[in-house]
Amino acid sequence: MNKIVEENNIIEVKNVHKSYGSGSAATHALRGIDLKINSGTFNCIVGPSGHGKSTLLQIIGGLDKPTSGQVNVMGEQINALSDQKLANFRSLKLGFVFQFFNLLKGLTVLENIQIPLMFAKIPAKQQEQRAKELLQLVDLSEKAQAKAFELSGGQKQRVAIARALANNPELLLMDEPTGNLDSESEAEVLKIIHELHRNGKTIVMVTHSKEIADQGERIITIKDGMVCE
Ligand SMILES: Nc1ncnc2c1ncn2[C@@H]1O[C@H](COP(=O)(O)OP(=O)(O)OP(=O)(O)O)[C@@H](O)[C@H]1O
Ligand SMILES: [Mg+2]
Repeated sequence: MNKIVEENNIIEVKNVHKSYGSGSAATHALRGIDLKINSGTFNCIVGPSGHGKSTLLQIIGGLDKPTSGQVNVMGEQINALSDQKLANFRSLKLGFVFQFFNLLKGLTVLENIQIPLMFAKIPAKQQEQRAKELLQLVDLSEKAQAKAFELSGGQKQRVAIARALANNPELLLMDEPTGNLDSESEAEVLKIIHELHRNGKTIVMVTHSKEIADQGERIITIKDGMVCE
């Protein structure tokens, strides 16, 4: 029985430490994280500011490497991958959403969504088709040709979610996706996230909001770089 549960883990983090700097000036952001996340679940990471939430999410997403310990994501031991392989893994297998959207301001909405598809070498015609479908999913078809800087915060985040979904990743990593939104946009973005979960995506979302964290299936509290569930 246990074995079956084990095999269903989409993320396994084992004794992960992360330090920035060295010697007496070092910051120990993560101090021995052990964490397993089941496929298809909706997980919220909470905890005080500066205690390691973003660091953990970035390490799970291969945007940063642990100082020590092991990180297995979708059966891939990502802490052992070369930078190039890690970049490929990230862009083809994972979807990221950040608090400040990280869109390319001067590009259109469609072009922003097409970026991961370009990276995946999808033919141009299909890129556009797929980007349009994704835009429909986040209910923003009318903004396809708008420049990213012309959008409201909530609209930007919906585009960022569409971009994160471009290569149809099983796992979505989100760092305070509603942290910069008014309550109405927050509700719209959360509705999309819930829908993605219902459709089988695994969600790992950092949030400062207790109310939002309570909407997920599991709350993971990070304090002093450790998990205290
Ligand atoms: N690139 C970096 N260089 C040096 N120190 C860093 C770096 N990134 C994070 N840290 C430090 O690591 C610790 C954990 O930071 P982290 O960003 O993970 O916190 P957080 O829990 O996400 O906080 P917040 O809720 O404010 O976003 C902090 O002390 C921070 O200053
Ligand atoms: Mg953070």
